[in-house]
Amino acid sequence: MSRFVELELLTENVKKELKKLFNEDSTGHDLLHTLRVVKNAELLQKEHGGDAFIITLAALLHDADDKKLSPGTYKNKDNARRILCANDISEDDMERIISIINSVSFSDGKTAETIEAKIVQDADRLDALGAIGIARCFSFGGAHGRPIYNESDFIEGNIETSTSGIAHFYQKLLRLKDMMNTQYGRREAEKRTDFLEKYLTQFISEIKNEN
Ligand code: ADP
Ligand code: NI
Repeated sequence: MSRFVELELLTENVKKELKKLFNEDSTGHDLLHTLRVVKNAELLQKEHGGDAFIITLAALLHDADDKKLSPGTYKNKDNARRILCANDISEDDMERIISIINSVSFSDGKTAETIEAKIVQDADRLDALGAIGIARCFSFGGAHGRPIYNESDFIEGNIETSTSGIAHFYQKLLRLKDMMNTQYGRREAEKRTDFLEKYLTQFISEIKNEN
């Protein structure tokens, strides 16, 4: 079987497993997030190269052992390993895939070394930006009982420590474009960040006029 046909079949198998894992998750790690990351990763791979087989599998499995979603398997990436084993992925490919998954997380501040890891990290970051990134941000906030914004957020110095959805823009989202690894990723991140900035301008003008 060619690696290309194999990858299509594998993708379908992995998707079935992910559906079970992500069932009703409200932390922003639904199957559709993963599928958008896979799509982003494929576009980035076309532009910048890297092993498409490894990139697609790492993108598919990048949140299967997310810290918030599955704290018990986070350290050893047991879900990803189980799914890869069940699909007869070689030991060598499995270690490459797991090492990419280990390097994509923002909160852990890991640096991506290989082109494959750089691509998957950029692909994941793009999904935190733009219209979809805004939706995910407030959906995460809602699931964690956090406010959309606080009146005190815009007082000098407060935005860094606030836990509101709007504060997350300043604490993480607006910073992502300068952390992108690839040229294509950076270009797309800039477009999506422009959209965040327009949204913030409108948001602030609306809350200033409220009374
Ligand atoms: P990922 O690596 O898939 O982006 P994260 O767990 O970092 O995963 O975040 C999932 C989604 O939730 C992202 O869109 C992110 O911007 C959003 N998010 C994470 N932390 C917060 C937070 N403290 N407030 C609001 N949104 C958040
Ligand atoms: Ni993700």
